[in-house]
Parts: sequence; C-alpha cells; structure tokens
Amino acid sequence: MRLSKFLSPLARWGRAAFALGSLALLSGCDYNWWRMDGHQSTIKVAGPVAKSQLDVFYVTCWVTLVIFILVGGVLAYASIKFRARTEAEEKAIPPEQGPGNPLIEIGLIGASVLALVIIAVPTLKAIWYTYDVPEDRKAESYEITATGYQWWFKFEYPSEQIAGAGALVTANELVIPAGRPVRINLRTVDAIHSFWVPKLAGKVDMIPNRANHLWLQADEPGYFWGQCAEFCGDSHALMRFRVIALGPKEFNDWLTQQTEPARDVAPARVADQNAPKAQFASLRTFKQNESGISAKFDTEPLEAWRSQQFPDRGENPALIAQGKALFKEKACLSCHEVRGHGFAGISGPTLTHFGSRSTLAAGLLENNPEQLQRWLNNPESVKAGNKMAKGYIDNNIKLTPADEVALVAYLLSLK
Ligand code: CUA
Repeated sequence: MRLSKFLSPLARWGRAAFALGSLALLSGCDYNWWRMDGHQSTIKVAGPVAKSQLDVFYVTCWVTLVIFILVGGVLAYASIKFRARTEAEEKAIPPEQGPGNPLIEIGLIGASVLALVIIAVPTLKAIWYTYDVPEDRKAESYEITATGYQWWFKFEYPSEQIAGAGALVTANELVIPAGRPVRINLRTVDAIHSFWVPKLAGKVDMIPNRANHLWLQADEPGYFWGQCAEFCGDSHALMRFRVIALGPKEFNDWLTQQTEPARDVAPARVADQNAPKAQFASLRTFKQNESGISAKFDTEPLEAWRSQQFPDRGENPALIAQGKALFKEKACLSCHEVRGHGFAGISGPTLTHFGSRSTLAAGLLENNPEQLQRWLNNPESVKAGNKMAKGYIDNNIKLTPADEVALVAYLLSLK
C-alpha cells in the first residue's frame, strides 16, 4: 500500500475528530464541560424534582440510542454489502422493487409503538410527580411566591407575617429550607418570564394573569444558580437569581434576621473622627459585560454567602449616615424599600437586608463595594434597559463619586 493511500483516510478521521472536539467546546458548557458539573448543570442534580426530570432524559437518550444503532447498523451494512464494486455494477439498472414484507412492516410499527410507550410511561409519571408536592409530603412543604419583573425576581414568604408590613419580601436570592419540599407560586407583573434552577427543578413560565406553580427540593444545604429562561426583553440573559438552601436551624435564624427591620448603625458613633473616610479604593473602569463574580463563589459559594451575613467590622458610621440621607435626597426611596428606615418604594427590589445578599443586579454582580459602586455609577452599562438608569435620567439625578461611596457604605450596612 502506498503511504499517501494510507494517510488520506487518517487525515479524514483527524478532521472529523477536530470538528467534533470544536463542537463540544462551542456547545456552551463551561471549562468543566467534560464533567458536566457547571453551576447550571442538569446532569449533576441536587433534588428529587430535577432527578425525576433527569431520569426522563436518560430513558429518552437510551431508547433513541438503541434505535440509532439499529438503523445506523442496517444502513451501514446495506451500504457496504450492496455497494457497486465495478463500473458495470455502477451503471446497472436497479432491480425491480418488491411490494414489501408485511411481517417486517407490522414488526416495525410494533417496535416504534413499543419505543414510544417506553418513553411515554416515565414521562407521564414525571409530569404528575413534578406538577405539585406529593400528597404525603404536603404537611411539611413550605410555600413561597416568586414574581418576575423586568429584570429581577421578588420572593415573598406568606407564612412570615410582619406586623404592619405584610409578608416578608426579599429579592433575587431565594432562601429555602433544605430537605423540605418548597412550593413556589409563579407570578409576573410585566412580560412572560420563566423560573429555572437547573440543579433543583425547571422550568415553568411566569405568565401574566395565570397562576402557575412548581415545587422543588434541595436535599442538602447548598448554593444554586437560577436563571430566567424565557426571552423577556433587553436584559433577559442578565435576569438571574440564586437559591440558598439552609438546614432547619440556620433557616429559622435567617427568617428571624430577615423579619427584623433594617439594621440602623448607631448615630452616636457618627462623631468618630478617626474612622476611615472611605471603605475601598476608588472605582476602576469596567468593560461592558465584564464579569462581576469572583472565584470565591466558584469554590465555596455557600461559605461565601454565610460570610456576607455579618456586619463589616471596618464600617464607617459617618459615611453610612451620609448615605442614608442621600438615599432620601436622590429619590432612591421612590422605588426601593428599606423597612424600618421610612423608605417604602415598591417598584424596585426591596433593600431592607441588601447587605446580606451575595449578589446584586439580579444575580449578575458580586455584592461587594467595588461592584456595587460600578452598578450605582452606570447601571446601563451593566444591565441594558434597566429602570434605575432611566430613573437617574428622568429625575436628573447625578451621583458624584463621593455620593456613590456613601451610598455603598449605607447599602452594605443593611444586614
Ligand atoms: Cu425574565 Cu427572561
């Protein structure tokens, strides 16, 4: 055999392998694609609802894989066995077509029906199972209402009533009890959104004037990535959230802390002249769409979230008081609530315990002084079309860098 004859099929296989490899790299998986355990993996699931959906996926995969191998095998066999070997065979008139074999045809219809039934039975079971909390677990289930806004999520806890303020409300971080079924009512105030936490359950649309719901359960305490999964306008892809599942005691502690009014930093300390003037270095420039999440949320996200629950020991009460005054003066209060501080806006996310969240701008940026200042400085460059940027323009509010620093200090003190 001549060398070139040997090399050309080798080169063809090489090209095919390269194309497949590139396709895998381009398929939207993160750098751990071969392990399929990214933040939004539907393969590495963490609860029974996502598990049941994964089971349906695998059944469908296996059935279609068997069909693919059978059909592909017959096709390959026929192509090789009956190929034209000589020029005469290539030009020969094909043999007359027969009427077919009824036995084979009935057999194939039967096999197709069987394949569909094998897929349909677990699919229907999963549809009923995932629709609502199973009867025998209803008593221990916890209820939360999630509402979609362009482009963030509001979470309401109807069983936690606060005197004079209604149900406990938070935004963009859904804290749930681990090991318990959680029933989530899905609502929207504007466009159609879709609620999706890939590792726990997904996805169900939030449709205007329609009372949808889903249920999910996180088997163990953990930190999960969520995402709006229905195109809902300019910043749909930036409409994210987090789910934090906590053990029973930690969950109750969290509820207790959240139902409290916002933390008020003692004004008596305002006179402290030795306190630092600013809590961080001045704002650097960010590229549009530059990622705002640091590596600590990749490795130990739940620990990173926990560390966010306590007041920063280096905080500056004078700066915080200044930020609180600005919150009123710059009309932040017309859209945002800070319960206990006399600010009661409802069209934007509540900020009562903003400082205890691990993210801001609907799960887009890490909640730290630098990213918060970036957001306050130019919300439009982070999330196109958002109402806060429009509010700045409509109300002719200009925040100076000093305003930003004071507001950052105030907002992060709200634990
Ligand atoms: Cu909300 Cu897409």
